[in-house]
Parts: sequence; C-alpha cells; structure tokens
Amino acid sequence: MTQRKYKKAAGFLIRWFRPDDAEFCYNTRRSAYNHEFTDELSEREITAAVSAYEPVDYIHMAERMPFFVAELHTECVGFFTLKRLDTYTAEIPLIYITLENIGTGIGSTCIEYIEQWIREHWPDVNTLTVDTIIPKYNSGFYKKVGFTTDKQVFCEFKGLTVKALRLIKHLRIGTKHGK
Ligand SMILES: CC(C)(COP(=O)(O)OP(=O)(O)OC[C@H]1O[C@@H](n2cnc3c(N)ncnc32)[C@H](O)[C@@H]1OP(=O)(O)O)[C@@H](O)C(=O)NCCC(=O)NCCS
Repeated sequence: MTQRKYKKAAGFLIRWFRPDDAEFCYNTRRSAYNHEFTDELSEREITAAVSAYEPVDYIHMAERMPFFVAELHTECVGFFTLKRLDTYTAEIPLIYITLENIGTGIGSTCIEYIEQWIREHWPDVNTLTVDTIIPKYNSGFYKKVGFTTDKQVFCEFKGLTVKALRLIKHLRIGTKHGK
C-alpha cells in the first residue's frame, strides 16, 4: 500500500470534537455543498441539506455519537462522525475534508482510523455503511477505500427527500467471530 502523505506526518492527528469546532464543521460542509456538489444536486436540495445541520446541531450530535476532528499542524482539516445502527452495523453519517486538503490522503487515513476505532470499541460490528447523495462525486473515493455499492436509499433533509446511494464495506472481523 502506498505511504500516505499525512498518515505519519508530524502534526497530523485525529481527536475528539470540541464544541468550538462546530463553526468549522458547519463551514466545511457548507463549502462542499456550495462548491463541489452543484453538478448533482438542485439549489433546493443544497439549501435543505446545508440548513439541516446548523452549528448547534454538531454540538448535539457529539453528545450522541462518536465525533472526530482531523488536525494538521493544529489547523482543522476535516471531521467525521460514527453511528451504531445495530449490533453488527455502523454508519459514517458525515465525513468532510476541507476543500483545500481534498485529494491529499486525509480522507482515506480517516477511514483507516474509523475501522481501527470500530475494531477496538465496537468489536461486534462487521459492516460499515455510508449513504451518499452525490455518488458521481464521491463513490470513486469510497470504492478506492474498499466499499461496494449496496442499494438505492433516500435521505431526508428538512422534509425534502433526496435519492442516495448506499455503499457498504465488510470489515475484517476480530477474534469474537472466531477468525
Ligand atoms: C470524499 C472525501 C472525504 C475523500 O477524502 P480525500 O482526502 O479527498 O481522499 P483521499 O485523498 O484519501 O483519496 C483516497 C483515494 O481515493 C481516490 N479518490 C478520491 N476522490 C475520488 C473520486 N471522487 N473519484 C475517484 N477516486 C477518488 C484518490 O485518488 C485516492 O486514490 P489513491 O489511493 O490511488 O491515491 C473528500 O474528498 C471530501 O471531503 N469531499 C467533500 C465532502 C464529501 O463528499 N463527503 C462525503 C459525503 S457522503
């Protein structure tokens, strides 16, 4: 496997979300919608999706689920959340890298971190899922990091239903499953 630029770089770390990260998360997600997703989503969908998570919602999310921020040289460069759907399944509800750092290996490093974290904290989980409403834009990334297409699903943003693609990854299972 190729050595990732940031994987072992001094100054790169993944830490827990803090309430003062909420504006960063909001702005990072909003920028992705406004600059990267316009080919696949209508203006109405973008407005609904962005307003579905205001800064205060990130603070509430962090009270309910694992929520991490990636930093490079003390600057926030991305964030992601995790949700346990059932005994064997976990979801990545959100994963966003800042626009200026996209394509530099941070996203795949975050996926590796997620898998490691799940192995340590949720050892029964053997499947990771993600629903994307912009599959043309990012399903290439998910496939590169080991996900495969599962099925079409729907996401709800402020009462607006948006078509989405569910991707899944079977995780390497631990000793609990006898392998
Ligand atoms: C999707 C996202 C998290 C990926 O993170 P990233 O740091 O840009 O990805 P990486 O640099 O780690 O890329 C890992 C591999 O995937 C490939 N890849 C990345 N984006 C790709 C794309 N859109 N299509 C095809 N391959 C892609 C890279 O070329 C790299 O391949 P390599 O291993 O051969 O070098 C990031 O681009 C992002 O935050 N985008 C905006 C928000 C978003 O789409 N979030 C997900 C919402 S569901």
